[in-house]
Amino acid sequence: MTAPPAPGRVTLVGAGPGAADLLTYRAWRAIARADVVVHDRLVPLEVLDDLGPDVEVIDVGKAPGKHKVAQDGINDLLVEHARRGRHVVRLKGGDPFVFGRGGEEYAACTAAGVAVEVVPGVSSALSVPALAGIPVTHRGTTTAFHVVTAHTRSGEQELDDTAVSCVTLRTATLVILMGVSSLPAIVSRLLDAGADPATPVAIVEKGSTPEQRVTRAALDLAAKRADEVGVRAPAVIVIGDVAAEGLLEGVSGDSGRRPGAARA
Ligand SMILES: C[S@@+](CC[C@H](N)C(=O)[O-])C[C@H]1O[C@@H](n2cnc3c(N)ncnc32)[C@H](O)[C@@H]1O
Repeated sequence: MTAPPAPGRVTLVGAGPGAADLLTYRAWRAIARADVVVHDRLVPLEVLDDLGPDVEVIDVGKAPGKHKVAQDGINDLLVEHARRGRHVVRLKGGDPFVFGRGGEEYAACTAAGVAVEVVPGVSSALSVPALAGIPVTHRGTTTAFHVVTAHTRSGEQELDDTAVSCVTLRTATLVILMGVSSLPAIVSRLLDAGADPATPVAIVEKGSTPEQRVTRAALDLAAKRADEVGVRAPAVIVIGDVAAEGLLEGVSGDSGRRPGAARA
């Protein structure tokens, strides 16, 4: 009697911000054991170089505004391949559960009775500022951070009140993903709400890649500066005192505070 085929399964794997050496060891192991890899656009494709000839690679990558495969189609793909007894690795940029619709893919698998697990990834929300030397918290400067997306269902920039008050009250660093095209609206919203026009802003494009670039400006000039230098997605926008140029240079003593520069 032949044994029944092994049940298929899905592993949602975070691929980090772009550099292949920012994938976790667990992510590499999952990829090495895949029968099918379903990947997004913003993943380091060299991690697929050593896959065997039998491994099927499916690109469902999306350019901004151009959905190659609709989300329902991706969910169906994962379930269909797993139901054929295959190990499906769903490779997603950053962390699968940070603005990545990983939750919807997970739920689609469980609803279909398909086993699913998550391999967390290094999210761009924290790693991209870090790679640019920007700490999202810094003793004596800021003790909290707030991460938002500027891309909503309606396509409008809708900074919530918490996000706005982080900046106006200087209570936390504001980290914005998918915010490049909304930057002028974001700046207006914050200034209208009473934010200090001198609040530091840093925009980090293509973090962890050879094209990584950091653009800095005061809040009131940030949209103009981004336009002048041609800032493009993908980028992470950091707003708050931690984004100040030279914050970590000439750090004095235990407080980590640069004399005369940072505010608590
Ligand atoms: C759909 S979201 C996915 C976020 C992802 N799940 C994560 O945890 O990083 C895509 C956005 O992440 C940010 N992003 C991702 N990779 C980036 C990179 N290498 N450099 C700058 N921003 C990046 C950009 O704001 C981009 O528009």
